[in-house]
Amino acid sequence: MTAGLVLAAAALLVQATHGQNFMSQAREDMFSATSKLEDLLSLEAEIVRMVERYLEAANHRVDIIKRYVSEYHRLSTEGGTGGGSGSGGMVVAHPVDAYLLLKRLTVEWASVEDAMTLHANATQELVQRVALFRERSTFPVMEDLHGAAVALVRLQDTYNLNMTTLPAGTFTGTGPTSSEFHSSKPLSARDCLFLGKHALNKGYYDKAIEWFEAALERASDEEDASASRDEIEPFLKSAIKVHDDVLETRGPRGLDWQTKWVPVDEELASKHKYREVSNQRFQPKLYQQQSEEEEREHFSRLCRGQRLRPVEVETSLVCRLVAHTHGRLHNHGYFTLMPLLLEEMSLDPYIVVFHDFLTAHQTDAIIERAKPKLATSRHRGPDGDFITSMIRTSKNAWLRESDEADDLLVNLTKKIEMTTRLHALRLSAGEDYQVANYGIGGLYVTHTDHLMMNPDPSVYTAWERFMGDRFATFMVYLSDVEAGGATVFPRAGVTIWPKRGSAAFWWNLYSSGVGDENTRHGGCPVLHGSKWICNKWVHYNDQFLQHPCGRNTWDKLVVP
Ligand SMILES: *[C@@H]1O[C@H](CO)[C@@H](O)[C@H](O)[C@H]1NC(C)=O
Ligand SMILES: *[C@@H]1O[C@H](CO)[C@@H](O)[C@H](O)[C@H]1NC(C)=O
Ligand SMILES: *[C@@H]1O[C@H](CO)[C@@H](O)[C@H](O)[C@H]1NC(C)=O
Repeated sequence: MTAGLVLAAAALLVQATHGQNFMSQAREDMFSATSKLEDLLSLEAEIVRMVERYLEAANHRVDIIKRYVSEYHRLSTEGGTGGGSGSGGMVVAHPVDAYLLLKRLTVEWASVEDAMTLHANATQELVQRVALFRERSTFPVMEDLHGAAVALVRLQDTYNLNMTTLPAGTFTGTGPTSSEFHSSKPLSARDCLFLGKHALNKGYYDKAIEWFEAALERASDEEDASASRDEIEPFLKSAIKVHDDVLETRGPRGLDWQTKWVPVDEELASKHKYREVSNQRFQPKLYQQQSEEEEREHFSRLCRGQRLRPVEVETSLVCRLVAHTHGRLHNHGYFTLMPLLLEEMSLDPYIVVFHDFLTAHQTDAIIERAKPKLATSRHRGPDGDFITSMIRTSKNAWLRESDEADDLLVNLTKKIEMTTRLHALRLSAGEDYQVANYGIGGLYVTHTDHLMMNPDPSVYTAWERFMGDRFATFMVYLSDVEAGGATVFPRAGVTIWPKRGSAAFWWNLYSSGVGDENTRHGGCPVLHGSKWICNKWVHYNDQFLQHPCGRNTWDKLVVP
């Protein structure tokens, strides 16, 4: 037992040392797209229907078997009084009884046997049918469950969810509104144990301890405990040991682990180096290179809606109406009657949001078109190839204006052109629309949208070199997200809350075509609900008339 524990702890330490960045390990899973989860609900309903039909027939058969048994008991008690049970054996004296006995053991038993065979056959058949059904549809596997557990731990971490209430299935949302959300059922002690193990495996040592503690608490509350204290306690103990060891030897934070700021063990905690900890405060580090750890810290804080920028910066931002009536190039008057509602999110880098850019009708139409095409998300790997994402937990689809039967997307692209004064409709200027669906826990780790950072141009195709890099991003929010799911810029200190129909716009490149690293951004995990966005990336080279490259490398763009 003790040896086993030590081994387990050692195995955990090994995993901790060799683990990868746990933010980037967010897998591509079932739960990552809500539309897939909805599919699962209907799959489950189909299985329940099969089982219900099975149960109905099974009940009928069990009745036949029961009847046989109760008939025997009824007769043997009655017969017992009349017969000579006192003499030690039952006597069949009556010729009718003899006949009935033989009938029971021949004809009646045969029908019982039939019922049992039928039942066995039906059971086997059901198992086979469900297995076949599972093969034919996308069914979750254990890995998906592990993924969902990790997603829950990640959410708990990113949003500082209250561990008093989370095991009961209740948390308060993060976002413009903070409502309470309740699950249909609380987690059991065993669920908490399961989550604790996952937290431990992923290097969330602080969270692991909290989950094991929650498991203990629930075990004592549960009437018929789903996991015993004896089972949970060793996990808590070894988690505390690993936690304190990691904190002592490697510190409280790293790319693939995190601990509390102070050891759990009181003797260790009394060490001098842990006394100052409470005075340490987070200092934002904006508009400059951040280490991966720092970036993650900024990311999480912005996801929670913390304001990291100085007050002067926050208060200098305004909302305004834009009608584009004075534009030399685009004096089209399109926005004269219905000006754009522009909100500045940041002036440098220049990031704005256009409110009510699309109507609910339009956003729904885009979602409906993308749904059948949702595939596993792919993104550019380090060597420029597209790889199936382990980083992006979303599903996405590509829609091209000219592939659509009507002009919904053409109209949208034209409106984007008029809004941004960029070419976006030509193939050489704008990419197809990328529609992405992020489910619970779905996130996109911090990245830049511009891709062509390799100094060797030969790694890019002729077409890529012709289009140039992604100049600007126009991101439309197609759904409201009840909690979480903001778009955040860790270096620029910006949080944009998703709102159906509004659109974010920013320049990825300076006017010289050089990438602006301060536009690094990511999608916060969705805490409650489902997030749909659609991106239009506009490329650099085709915009040379409106945007001749600046004289200086770092010249910035501000329009619209
Ligand atoms: C039960 O299944 C076996 C083999 O699958 C088959 O031979 C048998 O006829 C079935 N029995 C009934 C009563 O359906
Ligand atoms: C967590 O929730 C409980 C119960 O609602 C509350 O008493 C407690 O103060 C909360 N803890 C934190 C850290 O907000
Ligand atoms: C696209 O715009 C044209 C011209 O304004 C309009 O007639 C048409 O109805 C629009 N199409 C859609 C699908 O909204």
